[in-house]
Amino acid sequence: MPDETAATPAPTPAPTLFTWEFAADPYPAYAWLREHSPVHRTTLPSGVDAWLVTRYADAREALADGRLSKNRGHHSEGANAKNKVGIPGERGADLMTHLLNIDPPDHTRLRRLVSKAFTPRRIAEFAPRVQELTDGLIDGLQKDATGAVKSEADLIHEFAFPLPIYAICDLLGVPAEDQDDFRDWAGMMIRHGGGPRGGVARSVKKMRAYLLELIHRKRADLGDDLISGLIRASDHGEHLSENEAAAMAFILLFAGFETTVNLIGNGVHTLLRHPEQRALLQESIARGETGLLETAVEELLRYDGPVELATWRFATRSLTIGGQVIGAGDPVLVVLAAADRDPDRFDGPDTLDLARRDNQHVGYGHGIHYCLGAPLARLEAQSALATLLTRLPDLRLAAEPDDLRWRGGLIMRGLRTLPVGFTPEAQADASGGSGMRGSRP
Ligand code: HEM
Repeated sequence: MPDETAATPAPTPAPTLFTWEFAADPYPAYAWLREHSPVHRTTLPSGVDAWLVTRYADAREALADGRLSKNRGHHSEGANAKNKVGIPGERGADLMTHLLNIDPPDHTRLRRLVSKAFTPRRIAEFAPRVQELTDGLIDGLQKDATGAVKSEADLIHEFAFPLPIYAICDLLGVPAEDQDDFRDWAGMMIRHGGGPRGGVARSVKKMRAYLLELIHRKRADLGDDLISGLIRASDHGEHLSENEAAAMAFILLFAGFETTVNLIGNGVHTLLRHPEQRALLQESIARGETGLLETAVEELLRYDGPVELATWRFATRSLTIGGQVIGAGDPVLVVLAAADRDPDRFDGPDTLDLARRDNQHVGYGHGIHYCLGAPLARLEAQSALATLLTRLPDLRLAAEPDDLRWRGGLIMRGLRTLPVGFTPEAQADASGGSGMRGSRP
């Protein structure tokens, strides 16, 4: 006989979203949403109302649904809200015509053009330069401003942040002497991503003015770089206009920069918190294997990837996702981080398994907006992790895990700082390890 006096468990209350505690560990809240309110209406900190899609199957469907537009002209809340739903500063700087803001047929045309320049071959040929940048930055981690050896560093600011910015600048063909300007502008964008926008808008404007000027100069003297490739690319005789090329260079920088910072930052953080998995990876790299490194980067993306929510989408008409009716004009945000922990898709989704093979995560998105830069991101992340674990094998967290602070932005997930300790190679060398190489990139 069932015990009729036993109380049925009270339903767990809905979690509070977008607090600092949520930013530190959003996964329990996402588990609740997946189970109790998989397509969830919420008011974002900006005051905009949006739907959050949290289950894997719904997420894939929504990302591939042509009725969800990337064009914020479809947003029902009017011009005022429209300013709250893009990349800060892009509107004023006239950089809107980029891949993440447009639908077919414009998207199809622009993506085809950029794909002609941003080819897998170009990325593969770039591998030695990425390795050189990685090595130079790891040299730099071990020296202070006076050149003295040090054994602690902030891995975000001294390594994860500069690596992608220098890499994408090199790839685009931004001359070395101008790259530190880009580093400053990008720093402004990352620091104030979800906050005060004046400085961000100024940085975006400066970046655009610089890119237009660079495109103009390159047009007269085409080289082997990506900007020259964008200028050269044509589709049925049609070329990118200078504005389109500038918007394209901007989105490559923007989409390829903070994502990679946080893939490296979140990835190293996860490895440092999972010593057994990290040891397996370290041993495999030491044996000269690449298989585990490749699956590890995918698993780190699934487990705690940098793009927590996909970018804004707007319902062009009333439609249904996961049984929930979405009104025409409503914003829809697909929560990639929730989908990638869905137990209906992944075995043991909350367990880090660097060797996971059945791992079709949505960390790079899905459908026509699938990440264009995935091969570059993989290259940078593999180079960064393999080189760090090889050259600084005793890399460790130099802070209490609870003291780490996460950025509070909506789309990206990443740490503000990642203090690490290590035995510098100069010391390891004195006791029989390898010596310190070269200098900065
Ligand atoms: C490091 C890890 C990266 C992650 C996790 C990532 C993730 C994503 C995601 C989720 C999307 C789709 C967004 C949506 O549908 O709303 C996307 C699109 C895009 N990504 Fe990445 N990205 C990364 C690195 C890069 C890099 C290095 C570049 C280029 C240099 C890049 C360029 C782009 C571009 C241009 C798009 C827009 C594609 C389109 O709309 O057709 N990404 N990325």
